[in-house]
Amino acid sequence: MLNKARAEKYAVGAFNCNNMEIVQAIIQAADEERAPVIVQASQGAIKYAGIEYIVAMTRTAASKASVPVALHLDHGTSFEQIMQCIRAGFSSVMFDGSKLPVEENISVTKQVLAASRPAGISVEAELGKIGGTEDDITVDERDAMFTDPREARDFVDNTGVGSLAVAIGTAHGAYKGKPELDFERLSEISSLLDIPIVLHGSSGVPDEDIKEAVSRGICKVNIDTNIRQAFTRKCRQVLEEKPEEIDPRKVLGPAREAAVEIIREKIRVFGSSGKA
Ligand code: G3H
Ligand code: ZN
Repeated sequence: MLNKARAEKYAVGAFNCNNMEIVQAIIQAADEERAPVIVQASQGAIKYAGIEYIVAMTRTAASKASVPVALHLDHGTSFEQIMQCIRAGFSSVMFDGSKLPVEENISVTKQVLAASRPAGISVEAELGKIGGTEDDITVDERDAMFTDPREARDFVDNTGVGSLAVAIGTAHGAYKGKPELDFERLSEISSLLDIPIVLHGSSGVPDEDIKEAVSRGICKVNIDTNIRQAFTRKCRQVLEEKPEEIDPRKVLGPAREAAVEIIREKIRVFGSSGKA
């Protein structure tokens, strides 16, 4: 899915799910946009919904759609968690060793690859640190967290990983100000790597910047916060308008529709509309 996106210069949307309505929204949006899509679950989502539910809901929703759907583990931090996801039916995994010393990140990424390859599971790794918007850090500290292009090249050569998440100025969560992306760094990384590059922390990044990042080699764009915002904003609105409402379907149904809308908008920005 990502190699095709890389060849055709668009990005596949990777959307985080936590519950049935969001899984349905992701796949409905992709189906309506005729776009390939990645449903992804974090360790927190797996803890909340249960791994079997995540797999079964995605499989059921995907079976009704006519677009390619992948189920991906987002920010897996342990080898055991990754193995559980592979056994449960995930089609790809991320090993996030970005908090480890780079040598250890390389060594665990290699172990994950050795275990995943025979099962036909693709692996995303992370190099550099994609922080949170709440992290109180200076500009110099922020730059020090960015992915070093040469180190990225060595990391990929050394591990043979399938795709790489890079730190170029985005952060997880809602931004307080406008995010400043280091596009030159992205282009340099892109010119040195021959695998798909992944952008995390993409909610709140202006559409024009996302498009610029895609034109410079980003092939997978991760979105979580924007879906949570659209979903809960709609729940809040319905309950404010009808405080006496007790039917969960009347609250979660409109929230699911709001999620479909934002996901469709993102898919169009990523350029993957019509690419299924
Ligand atoms: O791994 C998930 C993404 O990086 C989501 O980031 O919540 O800022 O959209 P976001
Ligand atoms: Zn992320």
